[in-house]
Amino acid sequence: QLNGGATFVIFGASGDLARKKTFPALFRLYKNNLLPKSSSILGYARSHLDHDAFLERVVEHIGKDEDKKTIDGFTKLCTYLSGQYDEDESFKKLDQVISKSEDERGMKSGQKNRIFYMALPPSVFLDVAKECHKLALASDEKSVNRVVIEKPFGKDSESCGELLKNLRPLFSENETYRIDHYLGKEMVKNIMPYRFSNTLFSPVWNSTHIDSVQITMKEPFGTEGRGGYFDEYGIVRDVMQNHLLQIMSLIAMERPIGRDAEAIRDEKVKVLRCVKPIELKDVLIGQYVGNGENPGYLDDKTVPKGSLCATYAAMVLWIDNERWDGVPFILKAGKALDKAKVEVRVQYKKVPGSLYGGVSRNETVMRVQPNEVIYNKFNNKTPGLTEHPMVTEMNLTYKERFKNLQIPDAYESLILDVMRGDHSNFVRDDELDAAWRIFTPVLHKIEQDRIKPEPYKYGTRGPEQEARFVQRYGVEQLTEGYTWPKQDVE
Ligand code: BG6
Repeated sequence: QLNGGATFVIFGASGDLARKKTFPALFRLYKNNLLPKSSSILGYARSHLDHDAFLERVVEHIGKDEDKKTIDGFTKLCTYLSGQYDEDESFKKLDQVISKSEDERGMKSGQKNRIFYMALPPSVFLDVAKECHKLALASDEKSVNRVVIEKPFGKDSESCGELLKNLRPLFSENETYRIDHYLGKEMVKNIMPYRFSNTLFSPVWNSTHIDSVQITMKEPFGTEGRGGYFDEYGIVRDVMQNHLLQIMSLIAMERPIGRDAEAIRDEKVKVLRCVKPIELKDVLIGQYVGNGENPGYLDDKTVPKGSLCATYAAMVLWIDNERWDGVPFILKAGKALDKAKVEVRVQYKKVPGSLYGGVSRNETVMRVQPNEVIYNKFNNKTPGLTEHPMVTEMNLTYKERFKNLQIPDAYESLILDVMRGDHSNFVRDDELDAAWRIFTPVLHKIEQDRIKPEPYKYGTRGPEQEARFVQRYGVEQLTEGYTWPKQDVE
């Protein structure tokens, strides 16, 4: 825990990420009395903004129903400083402003903790880290410095290695918190308890019983307005190499020896190292086209003409270890699809024998968003004058099961972890290295060979090839004659 207090410096304070995620998360922590007593929040960016204009932006994404007194209390903690990202003068000023505020708050040695939150584009990231290191670190040795950084962490093994190498002399691994905000989501945090605190489920979690695992992320909107950033990265680097792979490592890793950050991350790294680099034959990529109402990817003016950037991808990963040998892990992600949904779908082996011919396989579905739910599909005698089983489900819909359910936003939970010094839900350097090793060869191949993505219409399920693609890995559609009864939460 931080002793006494902290100054949060939010770099990129006028940008989207800070306004939509960081400040609202800090607000909710404040509201729940979870910020250290003597805290101050300093927004820093290049834009020239006066204090009021800054506060207006801070408040913009804080819920409309929040009471004014709480909002005023929060904004009193916030100040704004405009400056450059690569200039000593600006950072000297930053240091002076923080030091003055620490003195005003009566903070003593050991309490002058500084948390640098980089809500910044990768191009300025290293400059800011260098300047912070040179001119704006905590003024005494007993106080701590922490730096929170956001993806992208490079574009491939090499650029990521370079970035890590350059950051290493500036902030130690212990001071560094690499955010993958999916690790702050409630259902993602639930994967470990589901797997390791249930003797009912853990014995079947292996290739003897499981036939395939699909991890799917669907978004119903395109890259509108973000085309510039997106085109440089594409869907695989944007969400698959990080968010979906993090979910996969939690699903696949062995039981850690403890619940501390290093024990958990050791297991994640271990399983990632068993994953073979992806081969092109296990890949399907797509790009959305307009549907008359919504523009296609290439219609976005910020996207270079003729871009081959994938806005959809399905990739199959194979884990070369005893538990998972032969089980395909199918990661799928797409923009401009038919709905918003993130889920893990574990499909079990065929029911052996012919006693109940033609019954469906079992499935476990964990829906990360929207509306958290876990359901296990199982066969049950159709009630009435028939013996034949039908598919039903054991269903844990969070909204129904938990009264007054309040699920914290991922960022809220992660910033709290930063204050507590808990790295469990942050990405370690060797984890990044292992992750890039899986994706780099195939990404380079797709780029070098200029592989054309399959077109799919905005608002559809993705490229029409998807159904055949997943069938190749033995995935069966179990929906025939079965509909999830909770359409409203589907
Ligand atoms: C971000 C990606 O990391 O995650 C975005 O850059 C994506 O492209 C977003 O839309 C999804 O996050 P969430 O929490 O809305 O599912």
